[in-house]
Amino acid sequence: MSLTKGNGDMNPAAQESTGFALAEEDRAAFAGIVDRYPTKRSALMPTLWLIQDRHGHVSDEAVAWTAAQLEVSEAKVRELISFYFMFRDTPQAKYVLQVCHNISCHIMGARPLLAHLEKRLGVRVGETTPDGMFALEGAECLGACGMGPCMLVGKHLYERLTPERIDAILDSMRRGEPLPADTDRDLED
Ligand code: FES
Repeated sequence: MSLTKGNGDMNPAAQESTGFALAEEDRAAFAGIVDRYPTKRSALMPTLWLIQDRHGHVSDEAVAWTAAQLEVSEAKVRELISFYFMFRDTPQAKYVLQVCHNISCHIMGARPLLAHLEKRLGVRVGETTPDGMFALEGAECLGACGMGPCMLVGKHLYERLTPERIDAILDSMRRGEPLPADTDRDLED
């Protein structure tokens, strides 16, 4: 059975055969994503964002599920995951903080911001906190050079960061209610 656009139905055979399923509350979001595009395959990128946002990474099971739902090959799904550095196919920290340290952000204070994050989290760049909550990474240009220093967390881009704002964001993540980002990225294939 094919996914019927706009009504939230999904391919039940795919769910049974892949062992992956979206949570009840995410099914409407998935149907809404598919409904935005003229073809199912065009919904691939935002579907991967949705899965990673909820699960922290895109597992093998999720790859198979996505391919079946959107009628593309698993190789195509894996190609996108490996091409875009924001996607991950193995379990990561709950929040992977990617802080831009390229030239514009560097000029606007990325270095002291990273130092502040290292102090607050008790880890160095490239490390994960012992509780698995945060991973801290440096990143090349995130495409928001006029709004630096900036940090990408999954699809969520936080801009014009200050130590105070970083503290508020970390606290909100620890509460499980992350502050809204300045920009949510929905890259499309
Ligand atoms: S240099 Fe940081 S976003 Fe471009």
